[in-house]
Parts: sequence; C-alpha cells; structure tokens
Amino acid sequence: MKIELPIDSKLNTRQFLFGVATASFQIEGGADSRLPCIWDTFCATPGKIRDGSDGLVACDHLRLWREDVQLIKSLGVDAYRLSISWPRVMRKDGSLNPEGVAFYIQLLDELKANQIKAFVTLYHWDLPQHLEDNGGWLNRETAYLFADYADKISRAFGDRVYSYATLNEPFCSSYLGYEAGIHAPGLRSKAGGRQSAHHLLLAHGLALRVLQQNSPHTMNGLVLNFTPCYAQSDDPADVAAAQLADDYFNQWYIKPVMDGCYPDSFALLADSDKPTIHAGDFDIISTPMDFMGVNFYTRTVYQACAENGFAPVDMVDVPKTDIGWEIYPQAFTDLLVSLHQLYTLPPLYITENGAAMDDKLLQGQVQDGDRVSYYQQHLVALDSAIRQGVKVDGYFAWSLMDNFEWAEGYLKRFGIVYVDYQSQQRLIKQSGLAYRDLINRRT
Ligand code: NOJ
Repeated sequence: MKIELPIDSKLNTRQFLFGVATASFQIEGGADSRLPCIWDTFCATPGKIRDGSDGLVACDHLRLWREDVQLIKSLGVDAYRLSISWPRVMRKDGSLNPEGVAFYIQLLDELKANQIKAFVTLYHWDLPQHLEDNGGWLNRETAYLFADYADKISRAFGDRVYSYATLNEPFCSSYLGYEAGIHAPGLRSKAGGRQSAHHLLLAHGLALRVLQQNSPHTMNGLVLNFTPCYAQSDDPADVAAAQLADDYFNQWYIKPVMDGCYPDSFALLADSDKPTIHAGDFDIISTPMDFMGVNFYTRTVYQACAENGFAPVDMVDVPKTDIGWEIYPQAFTDLLVSLHQLYTLPPLYITENGAAMDDKLLQGQVQDGDRVSYYQQHLVALDSAIRQGVKVDGYFAWSLMDNFEWAEGYLKRFGIVYVDYQSQQRLIKQSGLAYRDLINRRT
C-alpha cells in the first residue's frame, strides 16, 4: 500500500520537510531520575487513566534512545520533533540538573550526527509537581519560571537545535487540565481554564523573547492544536453555536498570539470567569514568531444549546479512528485556508497529524492499511491547502511509535512503529513503511 500524492505536489520535493514526533512523558520512562510531574500524580490517582497505567517506564526511551535514533534514521525522515522534560532538566532550586541536561545533549548530538533536524518543544504538559503545588498554571509566577527554564536550557543546548517551540497545545494544558479536569492536574473550573490559558500564553511570549535572544539561529515558535467546528445545519442558531465553540476552543489560543487580543466573545464570559490580564501582556504574547506549528486530527460538529450556547453532536455512521475521532480530511484543508484568511501567519509546520487504530501484530507484521489511508487522505488535504496559497514547510507524523496516550493510557496506538510494551521491541508498521517510501520517492 502506497501513499500517493499528485505528481506536481510540493510535498513530493525535498524542499518540504518530513518528520516524526513524540513527547517526553509519553515515551521516556526513567521517572526515578527526574522530579515528579503533574502526570505522575494524575496517573497515581485512581480512575484518571483508563487502563490504570503510568509513565514510569513508557517506551523506555531513556534507555533505548540510541536505537530509537537509528529507527528514526531508518524511516528516512528529515526531522524529529521531541520534547524536553522540564522536571528532568531543572532542579527545585531553579538550577539546571546536569544529568538530565546531559541526556538531551547526547540525544541531540546523536540526531545531528545522523543528519536529523531536532525540533524541540519545551513544554509538552509535564509540569514539575512542586510548581503545581504552588498553583501551577493558575499562578502567574509559573510563566516567569518557564521563561527562566527556557533561558537556561537554550544556553545549555547551544547550536544543537533546529527549531524551538515553547508550548505544545496550550488548549489541552488549560482546558483539559484546569477546566474539564480530564488531564492533569484534573481541576474543574471555567475561571481556572481561562486563567491558566492566559498564563500559558504569557509563558509562551516570555520564553519566545528569551529564545530569540539566546538562539536567534533557530526557528522559534508555538504549537497549537485546532479542532475545526462545523454547524450541524444551516440554521443560524447552529451556525452561531459553531462559531462560539470555534472561538472558545481554537481562536482563543491563536488570536492573542497573532492579533494581540482575545476573540470578541471574551465579552460573553461572566466577570468571575474572566482572567486577570496585566498591562503589556498582549505585547509579550504577540511577539512575532518564526513559525507556527499546527496539530490536526479531527473536527467537531455543533448544535445550538440553550444552556451553554453550543453542544457537540455525536456523529453516527461516519468513519472514525480507534479513539472515536471522526476522519474528516476536508477539515484539514478548510482549517489551513481559514487560518490563512484570518491572520498574517508565519510559515506553518504541521507538527502533528495521525490516527489511533486498533492495530494487530500478526505473524510479525502490523497491516495498518486504515492508518495508511488516513495519512494518504490528510496529505492530499494538506496539498490542497498549499495549492490555495497556504505556506506550509513541513509535516510530522504523530507518532514515531506507540506510546502513553495520556488519559487513555497504553490502550490507543498512534505510532507508525509498533511497540511491544513487554519486550520493548519496536516494529515498523505498514504505515511506517509507506511513509518511508513516500519520503524516499521525493525528487
Ligand atoms: C496531541 C498531543 O500533543 C499528543 O501528546 C497526543 O498524543 C496526540 N495529540 C494524540 O492525542
């Protein structure tokens, strides 16, 4: 099974970058050689993780990193997107932890030796627990501590990095973590969701300024996730509901960064839910970026609802991945084109796209044709957006390998490489082979 793109597609050329992505907590393990983080605590709380699992071992990448770099190399990709575990590299007193830093320096050197560009994310959700004990992202101080961490780590890494992203998906950290309570730290309040979002955006802006100073040679930016919102019908009430949901879940995170303000629907928040914003915050938050990362998986359909303004519609009889997300590639094109129309964007990278599938290891193979077809459809959708004028310079498959899928534990597999968690053996799936083949066929 092949991934086929139009012959004249920009994606078929070597100017377009292809990569694979992971995140520290999801693959590293080695929890005893770092400080505890909010996900350790969340995992230890009964009922929070579907299979009762944790990140103590995960893919044992802390031990197997050398082999994993060879695996990445064998896929023929140009780049590897990884994240740094804040609790591994920083001590409680705010100094660098040399052992943790040495791990990443070795890894970055190994990537460089294998001509793989390192796209480093500084925060992919593993907040040190001692900072959460002090209020976490509800405490404005955390934003300044993040900038300090960015300062120290970017100095330590020197010229080993190709690109820095400050945060991965601040929507998930704030909304899922502090508002809906389904991610760590598991808190539930609208005010908390909005305040943590503001502090995360501030942290991004502060850290970006530090990176532009310390590391002007790297591409520095932010990774946002988008779940485009569609109306269930043409009824103006449903259309308005979808618009409100889009503001709340998507535009809330990009508009401050691009335009220096929240969406107009900010005014609809009750005063008690409005975040505290200091003078000058939006200037910091809207510091120009070298690139923006876009993570895309699915869409959501909304209908009007008297209580909340909008309510998601449970779509039946539509294709879905194993995690229950609708497969709707048109939303990928629509999203990119709409962002291009709404904002003056820096170059985009698709920093995540992929699918959880119910993989079966049979006779030493994983025939995940469903995942190959997901990639096929989404790369064609991306190609279509590029043809409509959106500047996208690269694409990362999520994920390099199966890993700890947050509240779903190890039950959902997103890898293009299969992981047998008992033996820690890795096996390239059919999708990984198809991805490698696509990359190799470029002209
Ligand atoms: C977004 C997150 O960045 C990543 O950590 C997660 O595993 C994937 N999406 C799939 O849910």
